[in-house]
Amino acid sequence: MDTLNDTFDSTLRSVQQAQTEKELDDIRVQALGRKGAFTLALRGLKDLPKEQRPAVGEEINRYKKSIETALSERRIELESGAGENKSGFEEIDISLPSRARFKGSLHPVTQALTRIEDIFLNVGYDVVLGPEIEDEYHNFEALNIPAEHPARDMHDTFYLTDGQVLRTHTSPVQIRTMETRKPPIHIICPGRVYRCDYDRTHTPMFHQVEGLVVDRGVSFAHLKHTVIEFIHSFFEESVEVRFRPSYFPFTEPSAEVDVKGAQGWSEVMGCGMVHPRVLSMSGVDPNEYSGFAFGFGADRLAMLKFGIRDLRLMFENDLRFLNQFH
Ligand code: PHE
Repeated sequence: MDTLNDTFDSTLRSVQQAQTEKELDDIRVQALGRKGAFTLALRGLKDLPKEQRPAVGEEINRYKKSIETALSERRIELESGAGENKSGFEEIDISLPSRARFKGSLHPVTQALTRIEDIFLNVGYDVVLGPEIEDEYHNFEALNIPAEHPARDMHDTFYLTDGQVLRTHTSPVQIRTMETRKPPIHIICPGRVYRCDYDRTHTPMFHQVEGLVVDRGVSFAHLKHTVIEFIHSFFEESVEVRFRPSYFPFTEPSAEVDVKGAQGWSEVMGCGMVHPRVLSMSGVDPNEYSGFAFGFGADRLAMLKFGIRDLRLMFENDLRFLNQFH
């Protein structure tokens, strides 16, 4: 009976460790088959004294029953796939859907600026940057806006000390470029500008892009063509564009450009032929060269393109808003 008890223990252990139906079958044959340990033990009962036979027989049958139960339980486990991973190796279930990962994206204004730069870079313009803290000369005087000129009122300027200002537009970058480069000049100047203003369509900081072309024989027709082509390519459709006569001290003649959208006409930029006085103040001979310039708000163009109604949303860093521009 002692050997039988050991066999019983080791049989149960192998049942637990079995990984396949085949292994379970082999165990069953070894223990309960015709020549199995427990079958032989039952057969050996006849060699025992008569009075011991019932008790021993009962014991052997109990072993047999337990082994059968263990076998069928293990078979069910194997079939349902449970316990498959008792090998100690971590298993990767490649059928599981992956966990969504947070992925950042570019701010809508950055997306618009990149797009604008690409459009002009493609036709040979350079991108030029200038300082955000500007002197009054470059922000105003060199653009034909002297100290008492009424146009200064339109700019809602943030004045700093020592004749410095936060630039109110990107036009000073065209001055700095003409001061240091000889024509032909084809540039755009993107950047932050500042005005003391705050409502649905104004924020104290916003982004402008200035364009400047100076060469021999540059005309208003070149300006018109450039502006219309740019607008069509930015909005990715042939939106209607109109030029409205306007006034800027640094261009003559001047115009404002409107784009037709679902809400009617929206003004998108100012432009004009560079004023001869502006050319000569910056060292360009107006008898030899002419030029055109344009300037617009990049945030404003992005608003129109994406259908955003309040400019202030652009600068509040609310993820519910920003996530829409992935
Ligand atoms: N600087 C002007 C503004 O900020 C826009 C402009 C640029 C107009 C160039 C004409 C030419 O309003």
